[in-house]
Amino acid sequence: MNYKIAVIPGDGIGPEVTEQAVRVLNAVGDKFGHQFEMTEVDAGGCAIDKYGEPLPAASLESCKQSDSVLLGAVGGPKWDTLPGNQRPEQALLGLRKGLGLYANLRPAVLHNALKDASPLKPEIIGDGLDIMVVRELTGGIYFGDRGRDGDTAYDTEKYSVEEVERIARIAFEIAMKRNKKLVSVDKANILESSRLWREVVTGLSTEYPEVSVDHMYVDNAAMQLVRNPKQFDVIVTSNMFGDILSDEASMITGSIGMLPSASLGTGSLGMYEPVHGSAPDIAGQNKANPIATIISAAMMLRYSFNLAEEAQAVENAVSKVLDSGYRTGDIMSEGMKLVGTKEMGDLIIEQIK
Ligand code: IPM
Ligand code: MG
Repeated sequence: MNYKIAVIPGDGIGPEVTEQAVRVLNAVGDKFGHQFEMTEVDAGGCAIDKYGEPLPAASLESCKQSDSVLLGAVGGPKWDTLPGNQRPEQALLGLRKGLGLYANLRPAVLHNALKDASPLKPEIIGDGLDIMVVRELTGGIYFGDRGRDGDTAYDTEKYSVEEVERIARIAFEIAMKRNKKLVSVDKANILESSRLWREVVTGLSTEYPEVSVDHMYVDNAAMQLVRNPKQFDVIVTSNMFGDILSDEASMITGSIGMLPSASLGTGSLGMYEPVHGSAPDIAGQNKANPIATIISAAMMLRYSFNLAEEAQAVENAVSKVLDSGYRTGDIMSEGMKLVGTKEMGDLIIEQIK
């Protein structure tokens, strides 16, 4: 089969990590007989430098014409002083909205070989962590009305029944494929939009009688994640709460450089990107960990192209390389073998072959 992939390298370490993921995809193509046709697309800070805007219309259009999008990272100090609506991050919001990607899946998994990396005590971690954060991605305060009124500023959180229902459905479906345990996170003791959220999730739960559903206030959820993370399996929450809790969940795995994400809509087109940012401090030094982007590419194979065997091959290759003791700087520990971005890519490709 032939698949069209829009590749957005972006800023900072983005180009280095996407380069390795592209090489991995090509290796998968060679091995399994697929053609991945990649088109490089400009978005983020580099697009601001080139075209004066973070997401030129032509870039969004290229993504729409593709079967899927692979993104490195956008942003950096160079563009931090720009007004809010002109910053590189706007490219992400524009892509999410423009491509209708309302469901953001952020797995927080503690890899077996990296058990010591978690900042939590071993007795709290137990035999590992595997949490799936399902974040609503095209609504809420990120897209609500905002502005200034004299010396006052405001942002608005707004959710419709339809918006909540479609993200909750995704979470229930994922819970059905996992351990049938769902926690819906809101702030229903304060926010009206959260009360609607809770009503809709509760209503939908009648369609999934096998899934146990708990509702948790976001402040408590933040606490429970560090107190007893093992109580969580699938978490579903709003755009902003999901932004915050997914960072927290990734941190307790101790390996943010390892975590992928998928943003999905109604069709098969998705956007896949590492959870980490553009890390300008190590950009261009062959130090970045490409694994999060490589596993994001594996998620693309699975969710957008329905190539489960191919996805598994990539994930297995990553595990083998880690089990063999190879580490990039961010996950380095005593006695392990330190490698650079490209070498990590080489090792993974070697395993796929
Ligand atoms: C993320 C990021 C983005 C977000 C920013 C960069 C716009 O933090 O993907 O989690 O807040 O969604
Ligand atoms: Mg974030």
